[in-house]
Amino acid sequence: MTQRKGIVLAGGSGTRLYPVTVSISKQLLPVYDKPMIYYPLSVLMLAGIREIVVITTPQDQDQFKRGLGDGSQWGITLSYIVQPEPEGLAQAYILAEDFLDGAPSAMVLGDNIFFGHGLPELLADADAQTDGGTVFGYRVADPERYGVVAFDDQGMARQIIEKPSVPPSNYAVTGLYFLDADAPRRARDVTPSARGELEITTLLESYLHDGSLSVKRMGRGYAWLDTGTHASLLDAGNFVRTLQMRQGMQTGSPDEIAFGRDWISADSLQERARMFAKNDYGAYLEGLLKERAAGTV
Ligand code: DAU
Repeated sequence: MTQRKGIVLAGGSGTRLYPVTVSISKQLLPVYDKPMIYYPLSVLMLAGIREIVVITTPQDQDQFKRGLGDGSQWGITLSYIVQPEPEGLAQAYILAEDFLDGAPSAMVLGDNIFFGHGLPELLADADAQTDGGTVFGYRVADPERYGVVAFDDQGMARQIIEKPSVPPSNYAVTGLYFLDADAPRRARDVTPSARGELEITTLLESYLHDGSLSVKRMGRGYAWLDTGTHASLLDAGNFVRTLQMRQGMQTGSPDEIAFGRDWISADSLQERARMFAKNDYGAYLEGLLKERAAGTV
């Protein structure tokens, strides 16, 4: 089987967070102690994906490159593609077609943050399904802001509707999409919606109609955090802070994931720890090195 490749979609206009995002990309804003994009990138890495493309606006690409580089610090390969205009999430598959080169993919939105016990297993199950696709339904109080799943009497997903004024359920589709190699071809068949975008929900419906989309419920034990408003961005930062302070562990650290999976050497992690020597993140990486040396992990 061809190795699944990753896409982080990190473009968009970011106007909902103006004036903060007038001069900086939303996905580079801090969520407590790390840039927002570290969290979705970590999710792809937890899924075992090491070849990843980051899609950005033309004006923000350099900043992403400066922040993330070629990925070698994490034992992964990062490349970059520009999306000239925010013409919809499904367009990412058309832009990434050459990069994917016939491989199945996992796409994550650069502003989606996931946390939960058992996340690696959930991702492994989705990865194992090579035909069709897997997406995750998450119960939210305000489904009208998202793509929403309509279920039939048997609890099977029947429709996925983008921002319905009358939501058929409370289950939003999260911004994490495992799709097979057919996604770019299907994306080319998507016609723009009334708001002029190639909607991800239309692409997902093409799989759903074939009976090849699995909608897995992501239970209440998971946190899927919103970063779409000033208040929810602050809440997400506070959530990460609370968790990290209590546990003394990082969430969403590509450095820790890469080291834990032996994608990078202790020397490479040491170099990163030195870069952040003045703060808690650097101290945490130092701690990981000490634990490894002591054989306690
Ligand atoms: O977060 C999950 C939701 O994401 C899904 O439930 C919806 O089905 C999906 O459409 C999307 O809804 P949003 O309202 O969050 O979409 P938004 O336009 O805000 O775009 C999501 C992210 O993708 C955002 O960080 C900007 C980026 N983006 C967006 C568009 C339209 C791009 O990079 N390129 C684009 O063309």
